[in-house]
Amino acid sequence: MYVCICNALTDTQVNRAIQSGCTKPRDVYSACGTQPQCGRCVETMVDMLKSAETGTPTGCSVGASISAVAQPAE
Ligand code: FES
Repeated sequence: MYVCICNALTDTQVNRAIQSGCTKPRDVYSACGTQPQCGRCVETMVDMLKSAETGTPTGCSVGASISAVAQPAE
């Protein structure tokens, strides 16, 4: 799954950066050789960083949002 569309960063790449010691989104961008562009991925990265800290698996909030949008109006 892409976490950062602007930089084409996947969850695998972000998780690898987190496991290598990144503690802030700016560290993740730097570890991946990128820079933030629009910033829309920062919230997801923060969630992933928090989950790594607590050992709680991350859910796919993007998919949930898409499902909610895809529901037909009644
Ligand atoms: S989606 Fe990551 S900077 Fe735009």
